[in-house]
Amino acid sequence: MSDQYSLLILPGDGIGPEVMAEVVKVIGWFESNRGMSFDVNQDLVGGAAYDAHGVPLADATMDKAQSVDAVLLGAVGGPKYDVLDFSVKPERGLLRLRKEMDLFANLRPAQCFDALADFSSLKREVVAGLDILIVRELTSGVYFGEPRGIHADDNNPDNEGGRVGINTQRYTSGEIRRVARSAFELARRRGNRVCSMEKANVMESGILWREEVQWVHDNEYPDVELSHMYADNGAMQLVRRPQQFDVIVTDNLFGDVLSDAAAMLTGSLGMLPSASLGAKMANGRPKAMYEPVHGSAPDIAGEGKANPIACILSFAMALRYSFDQGDAAAELERAVERVLAKGVRTADLMGPEGGTPVSTVQMGDHIIAALSQGV
Ligand code: NAD
Ligand code: IPM
Ligand code: MN
Repeated sequence: MSDQYSLLILPGDGIGPEVMAEVVKVIGWFESNRGMSFDVNQDLVGGAAYDAHGVPLADATMDKAQSVDAVLLGAVGGPKYDVLDFSVKPERGLLRLRKEMDLFANLRPAQCFDALADFSSLKREVVAGLDILIVRELTSGVYFGEPRGIHADDNNPDNEGGRVGINTQRYTSGEIRRVARSAFELARRRGNRVCSMEKANVMESGILWREEVQWVHDNEYPDVELSHMYADNGAMQLVRRPQQFDVIVTDNLFGDVLSDAAAMLTGSLGMLPSASLGAKMANGRPKAMYEPVHGSAPDIAGEGKANPIACILSFAMALRYSFDQGDAAAELERAVERVLAKGVRTADLMGPEGGTPVSTVQMGDHIIAALSQGV
């Protein structure tokens, strides 16, 4: 392995470039102060790529993404692009990256920093110390299943409007087994418990999901505690008593919804990072993309209000999962924690008691200063 890490940075749309600018500062800090060296390339994705190339991800950008150690992505989408044909919408660029890099395991940790426990919409005692990990399947299921589309419903004269919209929930046993293995491996390094969520009560794909996760458990990870839950109950349990969970493994769509719900446990969607991992490359590192869970936040884009922490913590995940720099990742996470403990808040983290929020840039500066000050 070389000591230089190659990174492709795709800031994207809306607040994407604003939060990514703060990550670039953090990368610079680790280069100047921790002897790391990053070969950084920036490119376009989403609406920004559409404006330049007429597609939400150019082939040349896709090629670069396949060749680097890790991709860092900001966010894509925005109202300006709502009118575009589905095939060139900004979100398609993101989905193409996930699919073609085969990033099947999407890790979405939800940790509640102590300083934010009072700010969550739930009571402090429900969220304080929360540390759960949602492992979302990311390359299959209803997001990609065929057939799909909107068609004329020709043979159904009783259908007012005359059209039908179709998506297909489809999972192979192999797709379920590989993401289940990721979840069990991660659980062994944490609380050793996995809860699998599906709707086996109404969906055949859910029955297969449950059986295959159980198979992987029984044959390969009998030491890990496994439970199963219907995803609707899972949503309820996440807000009722989230601390009951350690690792949750679930499909693409349920994982999308459950992770947004989990975000509010941590205080704000602006806090939640993610890592999307695929198979190991020739250099031993996994194919990987890191991105905040939040979107392009058109309602605050361009105002310098966005919280950059989700994007910065996504870079911490890159240090941990792509570059084996677990100590540096923990150092960055502690710096974020100390800044929050001092009461520094972006607007999304302001409680009803008010106060003066800092800007995106100021939050980045505070985190850099905390890194420099050390523990
Ligand atoms: P969103 O996550 O962009 O915003 C939801 C709410 O959370 C908004 O009120 C927003 O202001 C707030 N918020 C989000 N991130 C924040 C941050 N870092 N700091 C402060 N506040 C923050 O979701 P949406 O409004 O449903 O979607 C907007 C666009 O983003 C859509 O085009 C959607 O498809 C896209 N999107 C992209 C991604 C991604 O790129 N990974 C994820 C979700 C949504
Ligand atoms: C996410 C987003 C994406 C998803 C969209 C933007 C395609 O909501 O990363 O959570 O649905 O996966
Ligand atoms: Mn989502």
